[in-house]
Amino acid sequence: MSENLVMSVIDRNKERYLEEVMELLRIPSISALTQHRGDMRACAEWLRDRLLAIGLQRAEVMGTAGHPVVYGEWMHPEPGRLTVLVYGHYDVQPVDPVELWDSPPFEPQVREGRLYARGAADDKGQVHMHMAAVHALLSQGGELPVNLKFLIEGEEEMGSENLDEFIAANREMLACDAAVISDTSFFAAGVPSITYGLRGLTYMQIDVAGPSSDLHSGSFGGAVMNPAEAVARIITRLKDEHGRITVPGFYDEVRELTEREREEFRRLPFDETEYAESLGVPELWGEEGYSTLERVWTRPTLEVNGIWGGFAGEGSKTVIPAEAHAKISCRLAPYQDPDEIASLVEAHVQEVCPPGVRARVVRMHGGKPALVPLDHPVMGAASRAVERGFGKPPVFIREGGSIPVVATFDALLGVPTVLMGVGLPDENAHAPNEWLLLENYYNGIRSAAALYEELGCL
Ligand code: BES
Ligand code: ZN
Repeated sequence: MSENLVMSVIDRNKERYLEEVMELLRIPSISALTQHRGDMRACAEWLRDRLLAIGLQRAEVMGTAGHPVVYGEWMHPEPGRLTVLVYGHYDVQPVDPVELWDSPPFEPQVREGRLYARGAADDKGQVHMHMAAVHALLSQGGELPVNLKFLIEGEEEMGSENLDEFIAANREMLACDAAVISDTSFFAAGVPSITYGLRGLTYMQIDVAGPSSDLHSGSFGGAVMNPAEAVARIITRLKDEHGRITVPGFYDEVRELTEREREEFRRLPFDETEYAESLGVPELWGEEGYSTLERVWTRPTLEVNGIWGGFAGEGSKTVIPAEAHAKISCRLAPYQDPDEIASLVEAHVQEVCPPGVRARVVRMHGGKPALVPLDHPVMGAASRAVERGFGKPPVFIREGGSIPVVATFDALLGVPTVLMGVGLPDENAHAPNEWLLLENYYNGIRSAAALYEELGCL
C-alpha cells in the first residue's frame, strides 16, 4: 500500500481506534490478584476476537501454568518475505492506592490530550497500536508487507514466569526473523526514541529468625541479637558509602561503557537539577564515577524494596521481635546472570549475618538483561519507521527497566528485538494516574505500520 494511503486510513480511523483501546482498558486485567482471574481470561479473549476481526487468519487463547497467552498470525509465506513477531503484555499492575487516582483506573478518560487508565502506557495501549496498524494495512483489502505474529502474554508484571517454557514449547509456531516490542518510553516528550539496552533483574527476600517468640525487651534485652537490627546490619553490608555494591564478585561480568557511548549519553538533553526536582529529592545519589543516565541505564544496582518486622503500631511496645524481613532486588547490567548474582548475594548475606540469628534468602523472579546490536539492519528499519511516524529521527537510548523476554527471543528464537515504545518518563506506569499521550499513540500506530513496511523491504 502506498505510504500516504495507509497514513490516511489511520487518520480516518482515529476515533474508532480510540474507542476500541478504551474498551480494552476497561477490562481490569490485574495479573497479581487472584480475584481478577476471570478478567484476565476475558481480556485474552477480547484480544483474540479483535485479532480475528482485524484480519488475522489465526488467533487463539493458549493455556500456560499461569495466565493464558494470546497468539495470532497472518502468514502468507513467500520467498523473501520476512516474519515479524510482535510481543506485548495484557496484564497490568494493581491500582493501589486507588484513592489517589483522579479518575477510576478502569474507566479510561481523555484529559488534555492524555489517555488516562491503568495499562494505557504499560502495556495495553501500546499493544493496541500494533493491532490498529494491522487493521489499517488490511482494511483496504491489502496485504501485510511481512508475515506477522502476535504474542501477548498475561504475566509480564509478575516476572513472565511461565513464558520461557511456552516459547520453548512453541518454537516453531513463534519462529521469526525479528521481534518488536512497544513497552518502553521516549527519552522525553517530543524526542522519539528507540531503546537498545535494558537491565535485568533478580529479586530476593531475606528472612532473619531469632528467638522462637517475641521477647520482653526488659527481661531479655541485652541477651540476644535482635532480628530487626540484624536485617539492618546485613543491608548496610551490601553497599558502601560510594554507592558500590560490596558483594564479592558482583561486578565480575559487568563491562565498562565505551567512550563513544558515554559521549552519546552526554549529548542527550538531560538536566540533573531539574531531574532531582522532578523527583522531589534534595540531591541525586548513586555510584561514584558515573553520570545519572549511566547509573540508571547501564550500571547494576541493589535496592531495598521494603523492610518489616517487629512492632510498628500505635504507641510503644517494648519488644524484641522473633523475626524480621527485607525484600531486595538487583537491576543487572548486560552480561550479568540473574541466578549467579542471586547466589553471590545469598552467600554474602550468610557471610555478614551477625551471630545469634539465622538468615535465609528466598529467590523470587528474575530476568536477563538485553542489548540489541545497534548496527543490525532491523535498527535502521526501525529508525526510518519512527521518523515516518513522528516526523523526526529517533535518538537511541538505553533504559533501566526490564523486559525479560528480549533475552529469551535472542536465546531461543535467535532474533533481535526492536524496542519501539512511545511512553513518556512521567507516564506514571505502576503508579496512580497512568497515562499515554494520545499524539504518541496515533503516531505510534503510524510508526508500527511503517515498521512492517520497512522490514518488508529488508
Ligand atoms: N514496561 C516495563 C519495562 C520498562 C520499565 C521498560 C521501565 C523501560 C523502562 C515492564 O512492564 C515492567 O515493568 N517490567 C518489570 C519486569 C520485572 C517484573 C521482571 C520491571 O522492569 O520491573
Ligand atoms: Zn510494567
